[in-house]
Amino acid sequence: MSRFLASVLCAILLSHTTTAAPAASSLVPSALSSSSAVSPSTVSSLLSAGSTSTAAAAAASPTVPYASNNPNGIMWNPDSASGSPQPIRGNLGASILGPQNVALDIQNPDILAPPTTDAGTVGNAKWPMSLSSNRLQTGGWARQQNVALMPMATAMAGVNMRLEAGAVRELHWHQTAEWAYVLSGYTQISSVDPEGRNYLATVGPGDLWYFPAGVPHSLQATAESVNGTEFLLVFPDGSFSEDSTFMLTDWTAHIPKEVLAKNFQVDISAFDNIPSTDLYIFPSTAPSPDATAVEDPQGQVPQPYTYSFSNVTATPLSGGSVKIADSTSFAISTQIAVAEVTVAPGAMRELHWHPTQDEWGYFLEGQGRMTLFASSGNARTYNYEAGDVSYTPATYGHYVENTGNTTLRFLEIFNTDRFQDISLAQWLALTPPALVQAHLQLSDEMMSHLNKTKQIVVGPASTA
Ligand SMILES: *[C@@H]1O[C@H](CO)[C@@H](O)[C@H](O)[C@H]1NC(C)=O
Ligand SMILES: *[C@@H]1O[C@H](CO)[C@@H](O)[C@H](O)[C@H]1NC(C)=O
Ligand SMILES: *[C@@H]1O[C@H](CO)[C@@H](O)[C@H](O)[C@H]1NC(C)=O
Ligand SMILES: *[C@@H]1O[C@H](CO)[C@@H](O)[C@H](O)[C@H]1NC(C)=O
Repeated sequence: MSRFLASVLCAILLSHTTTAAPAASSLVPSALSSSSAVSPSTVSSLLSAGSTSTAAAAAASPTVPYASNNPNGIMWNPDSASGSPQPIRGNLGASILGPQNVALDIQNPDILAPPTTDAGTVGNAKWPMSLSSNRLQTGGWARQQNVALMPMATAMAGVNMRLEAGAVRELHWHQTAEWAYVLSGYTQISSVDPEGRNYLATVGPGDLWYFPAGVPHSLQATAESVNGTEFLLVFPDGSFSEDSTFMLTDWTAHIPKEVLAKNFQVDISAFDNIPSTDLYIFPSTAPSPDATAVEDPQGQVPQPYTYSFSNVTATPLSGGSVKIADSTSFAISTQIAVAEVTVAPGAMRELHWHPTQDEWGYFLEGQGRMTLFASSGNARTYNYEAGDVSYTPATYGHYVENTGNTTLRFLEIFNTDRFQDISLAQWLALTPPALVQAHLQLSDEMMSHLNKTKQIVVGPASTA
């Protein structure tokens, strides 16, 4: 509520400023007229920004007008918003008279009242797992996001799966590799590779597993956590569907029993009790968390299919932290790389892009917003919270700003063997300063703030 009041206050202050400071408004024609902001402190910085422009007016941008000074902050915080939010930003927009889905509008302030910097068309970059149809089974559930739900997300698809203690995601395989991040509890995985080498391990919260394409595996919740386990699966193919995997019981139900008996060299009666259809997820007895693989004359898989990512110490940054797992640390994971990022309240994953890889994002906690810059004047801002999937095509400039008052934590996932990004600030710091200044009319003082080291997560905002 206080934010609504602040924006009203701000609009009043700004209209006053515009009339009281004609010099500033004529130098910066459209800067203040459509302004709106989120807090009194932003109002004062906006006003001082206006007077700075006046002082710097001699160095006019050579060919086009200055960009608006509107700070374009978020209009309400989904946690603290009350009442019915309106599609109004400064003196743009108008109230909703027709029906309104208030709950969704509260969650999406930058969709309902976009920053004035948003323009053109960008493919949809937000999919809440809450909107995915859930497949309920005895013992758990599974829901997915793939290209059918989010057309821009062609390079990866995701599944969110829950298994009660002891429950099994049955023995199966599929055409793509499978990467996983454990969200809660402990999961025991088993597998056998093409050389007949096996693998069995248990992973806990924040840990990873990876199965190469076509390699058979199973997933089972241990009883270490009374509620079993939940995890996020990511597949390096946007058209993957969890509903079209190759399952053991689906296969045995679709083979003549005469053939089954011949294959295993036993009497046909051995198969009297096989299921008539696939089991997919089913309850079972919890395995021991320290179970070991069946003794294997071929030996164990040479590169482990699990990685203790939870044990990796995150690199502390001025505004949060980051840790990365790709094939340089998790050798078998040649088709998925991940960065786990935390962003403190008010801080931000800096402006950057990924040179060759689309990013499939998953929000673990907190609230954030991201603007996708798609070139040719196209930009769109989305709001995210825990359980939301984001998608950013390769080369699209973006940032992730913590818009809440708790830690923002999310995963950046890529269909690749190496994590890579390009930092806007580092790029500018390492480019001839006069060239940068000729583009952006930046002061020497501002240039001295550019850091040659990639900052990754910056903030909170400098008030200096
Ligand atoms: C911080 O979060 C709490 C809990 O969601 C909320 O009640 C409060 O209004 C928030 N404060 C601000 C300043 O956003
Ligand atoms: C198990 O789940 C229940 C119901 O969601 C929850 O109240 C409880 O805290 C959970 N226990 C643990 C140990 O996670
Ligand atoms: C994680 O670290 C803890 C403490 O250092 C250690 O006891 C444990 O074995 C490690 N787990 C794995 C899977 O490496
Ligand atoms: C640049 O960043 C590093 C940390 O990455 C920091 O130690 C250093 O002080 C920064 N330099 C400037 C000029 O801000």
